[in-house]
Amino acid sequence: LQQEALSKVEEAVTLADLQEIRVAYMGKKGPITEVLRGMGKLSKEERPVIGELANKVREAIADELDQKKAKLEDAELEKKLAEETIDVTLPGRPVQVGGPHLLTSIVEEIEDLFIGMGFEIREGPEVETDYYNFEALNLPKGHPARDMQDSFYITEDLLLRTHTSPVQARTMGEYNGSQPVKMICPGKVYRRDTDDATHSHQFTQVEGLYVDKDVRMSDLKGVLNRFAKQMFGEEREIRLRPSFFPFTEPSVEMDISCKVCNGNGCSVCKGTGWIEILGGGMVHPRVLEMAGYDPKVYNGFAFGMGPERIAMLKYGVDDIRHFYTNDIRFLKQYHKA
Ligand code: PHE
Repeated sequence: LQQEALSKVEEAVTLADLQEIRVAYMGKKGPITEVLRGMGKLSKEERPVIGELANKVREAIADELDQKKAKLEDAELEKKLAEETIDVTLPGRPVQVGGPHLLTSIVEEIEDLFIGMGFEIREGPEVETDYYNFEALNLPKGHPARDMQDSFYITEDLLLRTHTSPVQARTMGEYNGSQPVKMICPGKVYRRDTDDATHSHQFTQVEGLYVDKDVRMSDLKGVLNRFAKQMFGEEREIRLRPSFFPFTEPSVEMDISCKVCNGNGCSVCKGTGWIEILGGGMVHPRVLEMAGYDPKVYNGFAFGMGPERIAMLKYGVDDIRHFYTNDIRFLKQYHKA
């Protein structure tokens, strides 16, 4: 019996085969169990001899079964590992990596430059109240300058902000005259314009505001000059022209010189050699007052610039719509490696 069982174990090729053998020989209905069960019928002398023999046989078969089982399990594992080996010499599949949008990069660059000059970053809502978008900026209802910015109204009192200037009023209002303010605020703005190469009904602005005791026009010029040179190159010049905004007095527009140099020398990029990139001025006393600042104690400067224009100038983008149509061939050109 033992010989027979052992040779079957030897032949077994799968774990299932082994299980079958175990049941056949060692199970409740197997021959060994039968022998042990029949012990009662044996004589006193036979009992220990047969008992010992039966147990020995059983142990031998059980040992063999266990050993074979371990072997088969090892073999199975080996096989599995072999099937799962990875050929590390195969070339990988390229992974498509995204990158920041050109506008995002420009806004971040602007933020970095102004953080370097001590400005903090602020945000404000895109759905704005008439009060903050106009009234608090010295543009009462019926003021003709409201027409300068065609607006998307949602209700009589709510609109999509037409500029980031409401964040001036919000920030000053928050401090309510208690401390100086030095912030910039990037964000989306909306105007009822027909989209073309230079106009978009949605675009980006970065507002700047510095309110303190004894802030001067020369401070505005100094900050903007530093900004322009760091953004476009040390050889660039700025020029301020008188302008008008209801919330600044005096008001200016800033041009930047736009010489373009290549292998054939330098040429002026556009008729006059200057391109307008922002509006600004000294914060109007009425605006300070409405936000809780005493204009006899505090004054300040403010400016607003368009990152699209800056990106267009810096990289020679010829159509503002490129920023929004998201043609991957356009966007990819500006991804840094
Ligand atoms: N808000 C103005 C605009 O959108 C720009 C500006 C900001 C002018 C701050 C002066 C001061 O045209």
